[in-house]
Amino acid sequence: MKGLILCGGSGTRLLPFTFSLPKQLIPVANKPVLCYIMEAFKKAGIKEIGIIVGDKGEIIREKLKDLAPSGVHLTYIKQAKPLGLAHAVQTARPFLKDSDFIMILGDNLFGQSLEEALGIFWEQEADSLVFLIPVDDPQRYGIAEVENGQIISLREKPLFPRSNLAIMGIYIFRKNIFSAIERIGPSWRGELEITDAIQELIKMGGKVVPYMFPGWWMDIGKPEDVLEANKKILNLLTAPENSFKNHLVATPLCLVALSTIVKESKLKGPLIIGEGCRVIGSEIGPYVSIGPGSILEGSILENSILFERVKIQGLKSPIKDSIIGQDVSIIKGNKGEAKNFLLGSGSFLSF
Ligand code: DAU
Repeated sequence: MKGLILCGGSGTRLLPFTFSLPKQLIPVANKPVLCYIMEAFKKAGIKEIGIIVGDKGEIIREKLKDLAPSGVHLTYIKQAKPLGLAHAVQTARPFLKDSDFIMILGDNLFGQSLEEALGIFWEQEADSLVFLIPVDDPQRYGIAEVENGQIISLREKPLFPRSNLAIMGIYIFRKNIFSAIERIGPSWRGELEITDAIQELIKMGGKVVPYMFPGWWMDIGKPEDVLEANKKILNLLTAPENSFKNHLVATPLCLVALSTIVKESKLKGPLIIGEGCRVIGSEIGPYVSIGPGSILEGSILENSILFERVKIQGLKSPIKDSIIGQDVSIIKGNKGEAKNFLLGSGSFLSF
């Protein structure tokens, strides 16, 4: 069993951050979304992982040099254009060869391991297993219809959904998915859709089994999703795990890197402060993630994500519900209403 993570695509709904960073690298609780997926693979014993990348592939490769979990072997696969999820699978064929594989969309975050689903896939000798979860707004997703324990139809973002069971973006396949992909054409949005390929697999007589996902799930599509995911993960951070081994739990749910200096400040968890930061005379939290190398002086921060090397000095108004890209500086300011920012990398604000 191999793993495939899809990190191509354009990420336009997360501009300005995605000008300089693919959305799969956006940090949630100081760790790129992509890393949580790799950890889930490793936990399930899947160590051969292919990563589909688009034009920001080099940035992903550079970042994962330090951040990939030990013991996994990564293969980068370039998709020249984001022509659809099924096109991405086709592009990965030389890596996947004849192996069964789990494919996960690189903007998925989820709170449950993959082992149970793998067990069902093998036990039922399925041709494909598709992770499903009920949603309130089915028009936004691929939707599946289930009958007698099997998926009988799938539609991509239907106007009139036949169920509320969303396709999450986690799928298990065998090599016969390639034959199904060869038989489909582009959809109305010009993409080779994996939903159409799975529908074709059913038509070919394939057994497509639903997996009703028992945990929480989010796709990091918009800024508010990123803040929500940050909240979710911070709430689960009780102790330094492997990836946060240089951190110390200052008070419950406050993870502060050992190399960080915190002086005359109030910390209200859940929060995380990365390596080499300086936090002086500030009030931080709850639900704040501060990336490595950041400097905060005389600042108040709540429910926000700061990427790496952010500098905020003397801004007396609280910053709330904000995402601030790397190397951003915000300095001085007057007392007043809470400020709300979406600032891409390298922005400089002084007022
Ligand atoms: O979020 C769940 C939904 O994800 C499912 O319900 C849909 O059935 C599925 O098609 C997908 O829909 P999206 O419109 O959200 O997909 P998006 O274009 O955002 O791409 C998802 C991920 O796959 C993202 O990390 C980028 C990557 N990707 C996308 C395309 C189109 C690629 O690597 N290559 C591509 O060609």
